[in-house]
Amino acid sequence: MRLVLLGVPGAGKGTQGRRLAARLGIPQVATGEILRDAVKNGTPLGRAAKARMDQGLLVPDDVVIGIVEERLREPDAAVGFILDGFPRTEAQAEALDAMLARAGTPLDRVLEIGAPVEKVVARLSTRLECPVCHRTYNPAGAPPRDGVHCDDHPDVELIHRVDDDVEKIRKRIEVFHAETAPLAAYYAKDGRLRRVEGLGEVDEVTGRVLAALAADADADAGKEARA
Ligand code: AP5
Repeated sequence: MRLVLLGVPGAGKGTQGRRLAARLGIPQVATGEILRDAVKNGTPLGRAAKARMDQGLLVPDDVVIGIVEERLREPDAAVGFILDGFPRTEAQAEALDAMLARAGTPLDRVLEIGAPVEKVVARLSTRLECPVCHRTYNPAGAPPRDGVHCDDHPDVELIHRVDDDVEKIRKRIEVFHAETAPLAAYYAKDGRLRRVEGLGEVDEVTGRVLAALAADADADAGKEARA
């Protein structure tokens, strides 16, 4: 399965992507996580990206396209992948289609997770993240077991992301509407887009995501049987 997750910041792309990756046995490729690791490690990429990320702005297309192209060449992505946070502009979507066409492995689906603005502002302003594995938590909807540490890394204290203050969250949402929201139409044109509601319990949303993917798999199997 080669899948893209779309959605406004805080819709739950990371949360659902992590669950899907474990279930399907394919990697979750999250450009935000790759960039945050680069910033933490002080690499040239991290130093170049930091200022824009801290302001809630997008990192330049050529930089992110290069990161994804390199990551998708790794052996674990040969069986499929879940892209979380990429593409975010039409140029990135076109570059992704071109690189997958060159490899003869087109995208199977694009899943848009929907959530209203006020809900995502509340989620993000209280989000906690593991600085090691990037698993996210929320005191309201998805709390860590002991309230402070990552469930998967019991020695690691959870942190609040630098770009998760209300002003930067609103900036990221504004950038999403200007640059990324139009991609829904880009993918709807040729029937690749599916939409699921991102409100409700995390398990409920996972159920909707799996149901949407299963319905497509059934439809694809029916088409093959009739061919
Ligand atoms: P990135 O890390 O991709 O951030 P984002 O798109 O802003 O997405 P988020 O991680 O904020 O939200 P999410 O949808 O994953 O939500 P989550 O599951 O965590 O990008 C960061 C920055 O990197 C960008 O601003 C940009 O600078 C740069 N960048 C990255 N990719 C780029 C690209 N392609 N091009 C250019 N620049 C790029 O959930 C949010 C919270 O809600 C969590 O606390 C979670 O526990 C909670 N939650 C989730 N689901 C539920 C639920 N159902 N009920 C209750 N709580 C829930």
